[in-house]
Amino acid sequence: MKFKDLVGLITMVLYLNVSIVEAQKIDPFHYQPQKKVTCTQGAVASANTLASKVGVSILQKGGNAIDAAIATQLALAVVYPGAGNIGGGGFMLAHLKNGKNISIDYRETAPSHSNKDMYLDKEGNPRLNLSQDGHLASGTPGSVAGIFAAMKYALLPFKTLIQPAIELAEKGFSITANQADDFNELKNEFIQLNTSPTVFVKTTPWKAGDTLIQKDLANTLKRIRDKGAKGFYEGITAKLIIAEMAKGKGIITGDDLKKYSAKERTPIEFDYQSHHIISMPLPSSGGIILQQVLKMIEHKNIGEMKFQSAASVQLLTEAERRAFADRAQYLGDGDFVKVPVKTLISEEYLKERMKDYQPGIAGNSQSTKQGYIKESDETTHLSIIDAEGNAVAITTTLNGSYGSRTVVSGAGFLLNNEMDDFSVKPGIPNMYGAVGAEANAIFPGKRMLSSMTPTIVLKNNQPYLVVGTPGGTTIPTSIIQSLVNMIDFKMSPEDAVNLPKFHHQWLPDEIRVEKDFNPGTIQQLEAMGYKVVKKESIGQVELIEINFGKTRKITAIADKRGDNGAEGY
Ligand code: DON
Repeated sequence: MKFKDLVGLITMVLYLNVSIVEAQKIDPFHYQPQKKVTCTQGAVASANTLASKVGVSILQKGGNAIDAAIATQLALAVVYPGAGNIGGGGFMLAHLKNGKNISIDYRETAPSHSNKDMYLDKEGNPRLNLSQDGHLASGTPGSVAGIFAAMKYALLPFKTLIQPAIELAEKGFSITANQADDFNELKNEFIQLNTSPTVFVKTTPWKAGDTLIQKDLANTLKRIRDKGAKGFYEGITAKLIIAEMAKGKGIITGDDLKKYSAKERTPIEFDYQSHHIISMPLPSSGGIILQQVLKMIEHKNIGEMKFQSAASVQLLTEAERRAFADRAQYLGDGDFVKVPVKTLISEEYLKERMKDYQPGIAGNSQSTKQGYIKESDETTHLSIIDAEGNAVAITTTLNGSYGSRTVVSGAGFLLNNEMDDFSVKPGIPNMYGAVGAEANAIFPGKRMLSSMTPTIVLKNNQPYLVVGTPGGTTIPTSIIQSLVNMIDFKMSPEDAVNLPKFHHQWLPDEIRVEKDFNPGTIQQLEAMGYKVVKKESIGQVELIEINFGKTRKITAIADKRGDNGAEGY
């Protein structure tokens, strides 16, 4: 060992107050993302290498996948402030080793003083700056309640799970080049949308490797460590949130915070090509879209059409068009509006829906509206598998990158801008271009419709894939492609995640493709009558594949897009 490495190691031991073995694993000032890890015991893939390392260290301490998920999520709130959060919300999906599938909904809620027209001016025109920027854009945060709702499935004491996050906040970590770019680009917004200076703004430009220290956040995390969920929803943190609301014309009240509760929901489950898919129910549209699209294509031999042939892209596009048209009309928080879920996912309905699909000829969103039903919704994902067969998929979000860009003064965390996921007015697109109707209108206490789609796939009753991604409305379609790539096109997990993706969401009526998408396929799609639009990048998938052969083999893939990192042992 070189002298400078020895000094580094000793510094680490002092810094984290842990054993030399652990110190060698997590060095917040020197780390590199691994994009692919193969191992046998357990693995974590998340948006940030430090957070993935925290997750694996918890597994190695005897924690299960839920312990690791909680610790990873808390670490992301510190090392990935663009989307990791305690001021936002999310969904956890888990397959437990006893065979039980659970989902925890900790989506933000509309504050009690919200109303349907709160983002319209006197003439009824939308004011999307208010639903997207600053204090008024925030729903009541759900993440901390979600974490405590998950604790009943965990093994280790909460203080062990939150400790790495506290230390990373208190003592700092080196930021990545992408984060330095973000902070520089958002400097003016952080200044304009805040009532006090934030840690994300400094006078000289940020660069990769600079240290980010978040003392206020560390203190908030300590209150959560000591007082549980009450350390966030009541007491000092709640007071700081309420004071922030008063300074910035926000509407979250003490009562909204106190009343917030996470909800366990019954996951969406269905079979596709001999695999059992488990995904997120309402208030996410993700699971329903997954089921609708996969069931619409299941008997159309997509496997034989080949990956990214014009035929396979067209088939998926037309199924996505139909699922997103239904999303816009029918989907919203099922606790507040009647959503005809049973019909929307029934075989008969989906067969009828694809009746007018014509191979080789582009459909259009003028004539394809929602289906006929007689009865009268910046994000980050983490995937975890443990040695015992517990699997956890969590997608959590502030909505836009760095959410509302508003930090609660004195509490050090960013608030979400999730209110924009409601339909502020029928037909008016939100920041992801999604339109909605009455079903997703704002109402006090209601959860805004989401697209987040944490998903677990079982094969022969054993966890086979754990997958998820950020990306707004492109989330379900990215998951669909990851699954079809693995199941139908028999790709390696690496290719399934990293090869170019595409997306259709009914409106706008266009196929979005990544910039390196096959140009020949684009030409053929255009010849069929499709409008094709190039995008820089779609999604950041974290996928774990578990193969049970003679020996168990885990392959964890962190998307090549972004700073994502996979770790395992
Ligand atoms: O819940 C939703 O669908 C959105 N708020 C997710 C936002 C998102 O994925 C942003 N990531 N790039």
